[in-house]
Amino acid sequence: MSQDAPLKIKVITVSTRPGRIGPVVTDWIAALAAERAAFEVEVVDLAELDLPLFNEPKHPSMRDYQHDHTKRWAAIVGEADGFVFVTPEYDFFPPASIVNAVQYLLHEWAKKPAAVVSYGGVSGGLRSMQVLRGLLGNLNMVALSKSIPIPFVHGMIKEGVLEANQTMGDGAKLMLDELESWGRGLRAMRG
Ligand SMILES: Cc1cc2nc3c(=O)[nH]c(=O)nc-3n(C[C@H](O)[C@H](O)[C@H](O)COP(=O)(O)O)c2cc1C
Repeated sequence: MSQDAPLKIKVITVSTRPGRIGPVVTDWIAALAAERAAFEVEVVDLAELDLPLFNEPKHPSMRDYQHDHTKRWAAIVGEADGFVFVTPEYDFFPPASIVNAVQYLLHEWAKKPAAVVSYGGVSGGLRSMQVLRGLLGNLNMVALSKSIPIPFVHGMIKEGVLEANQTMGDGAKLMLDELESWGRGLRAMRG
């Protein structure tokens, strides 16, 4: 594939509960990412993907998947050149949904950059973000340091739209710059 082709970026909505605000936060960062000619953006909603708790008999390193849900998920992640994970913080931790979804696969994640947008109360989901970044690194992703925590997120949502402040907009630009730079470098490295 040409190294000039747009990078396939998957923006992943992590929360799955009824009444969640995850998709509102995803809409914000996905729209900013989609403005870039360098990216071809697809939103992936873990609620829609509806993966059961990990139920593959073989280790993901073998890529011998038995279930259609795993094959679908492996195709989405496998074609990606980079990720933006949009995660809340539950009990100072990432939701079980994303730990489960990540652990379904192995090679499909490797040598790809991953940015995290977290949200919550006073912490902005920072504790969740840090735990998640550790897991992503263990799967050989490059977990970018330029990530965005959004504190008091509920107060920023007006009529179903996230009204970001200047700091968040500036942070998003830096994060997406990094995603583009690492995305290109790592795609060349993967060959
Ligand atoms: C089970 C649970 C645990 C939570 N724990 C935290 C937390 O540790 N830190 C925090 O800032 N907010 C916490 N919250 C509040 C969430 O930030 C808030 O509910 C947010 O809307 C969750 O994202 P979602 O709507 O996309 O599910 C928690 C919410 C739930 C449902």
